[in-house]
Amino acid sequence: MHLAIIMDGNGRWAEKRGLKRVEGHKKGAEVVKEITAYCANNPEIEILSLYAFSTENWKRPKMEVDFLMKLLDNWLKKELETYIKNDVKFETIGDISKFSDKLKKRIEYTKEKTKNNKKLTQILALNYGSRDEITRAVKKLISKNEEITPENIQKNLDISRDVDLLIRTSGEIRISNFLLWQIAYAEMFFTKTLWPDFNTNELEKIINEFKKRERRFGGI
Ligand code: FPP
Repeated sequence: MHLAIIMDGNGRWAEKRGLKRVEGHKKGAEVVKEITAYCANNPEIEILSLYAFSTENWKRPKMEVDFLMKLLDNWLKKELETYIKNDVKFETIGDISKFSDKLKKRIEYTKEKTKNNKKLTQILALNYGSRDEITRAVKKLISKNEEITPENIQKNLDISRDVDLLIRTSGEIRISNFLLWQIAYAEMFFTKTLWPDFNTNELEKIINEFKKRERRFGGI
């Protein structure tokens, strides 16, 4: 199964506690670690896609953007051994060309070191926006002079695999430009829990609910 999560509510979690927003992101990163370990040990989950930074997140104060970049760099450095230990392959979707050379190198290094890992593929969406992704896919087809068909568009997306289960935390009921093509037949769950409070118990409950849903993919 391909599980995708919109990790929302870090800022509100921090503000509720009188902390700076960035403290919410720090706690959020710990939850990423816990959820990834759980998914690696659940043989039903093959891909975990996490929305970490959208094409719209550049609009945040520079201090917060800089913090998120630094958090990601430190995190990848610190967590490389966990990726290896848990047999998790690290990949990204989105356009990382605008990131600093240092961060780009760290991302490439982590991908290289984990590329043969098998239990789970964890995909971080970084400077990702679905409209941007679909537009880039169509441009690729045009430049290769290939026919514009749904199958060819899908093959040229950053991630071709359809999403089975989409979760968004923090009570917002929207998709915010995440994997628009891939969620065509996904089951969706929206929880009020803020991302820093999300945990494996709640994930397990959602997965159990997901299994009870009857997926018809347009059939009857
Ligand atoms: C949404 O909360 C979260 C983000 C924009 C960033 C997601 C980042 C993390 C979970 C931590 C970093 C991840 C890794 C892998 C190191 P928000 O800030 O929009 O919360 P709000 O809606 O309450 O303001």
